Amino acid sequence: MTGHWEHGDTTTQIRREITPQPLLSAERLQSRIDELAAAVDSDYAGENLLVVCVLKGSYIFTADLTRRLTIPHEIDFIAVSSYGDGTTSSGEVKVTQDLQSDIRGRHVLLVEDIVDTGATIRFLVAACEERGAASVRIISLLKKKSADEEDLPEIDYLGFTILPVFVVGYGLDYAEQFRHLPYVATLSGLPESGEI
Ligand code: IMP
Repeated sequence: MTGHWEHGDTTTQIRREITPQPLLSAERLQSRIDELAAAVDSDYAGENLLVVCVLKGSYIFTADLTRRLTIPHEIDFIAVSSYGDGTTSSGEVKVTQDLQSDIRGRHVLLVEDIVDTGATIRFLVAACEERGAASVRIISLLKKKSADEEDLPEIDYLGFTILPVFVVGYGLDYAEQFRHLPYVATLSGLPESGEI
């Protein structure tokens, strides 16, 4: 069923009516993360690395990535929001929970779940540079193939490029659901407006 849902009971509605369709299996994700971790390990050997997990979507990716790193590193967290509960970016990025560390002079690796318009990552890179980071690099599990590719900041380590469809799982949510899935999935049964 698609169309307007009454306020309240949306979580139950989402669980019943929206079905995840696997796009990237757990095995594919894990073997790509092996490769990404090896690249980070070798590029940052001897550096004072600060891994910054961009909440909430990157929490699982960050955990899997950092457990594979053999170089010493610290981890911090920043939470930003730009999507609300829908499936299209509002374009306006807000820090909802800031880092604890002083990043001045640190080599920062921003861990993103997915780059879509690039607004979030552009905002975060600028914020880290403004705060005096020695270097800022980006690792993203996913990137959506988009028309305005040239406007995107360079993604130093990228897992997979996908078509511009809404995805969930492996940390990514739809209205806070589906983060726990061990694979990345598209959704069928979304309301036509993409809103709940
Ligand atoms: P951007 O600022 O447009 O690049 O969007 C980046 C942020 O939007 C990501 O960190 C996600 O939190 C969220 N996002 C973008 N695409 C998706 C998606 O397909 N599923 C879930 N969240 C998404």
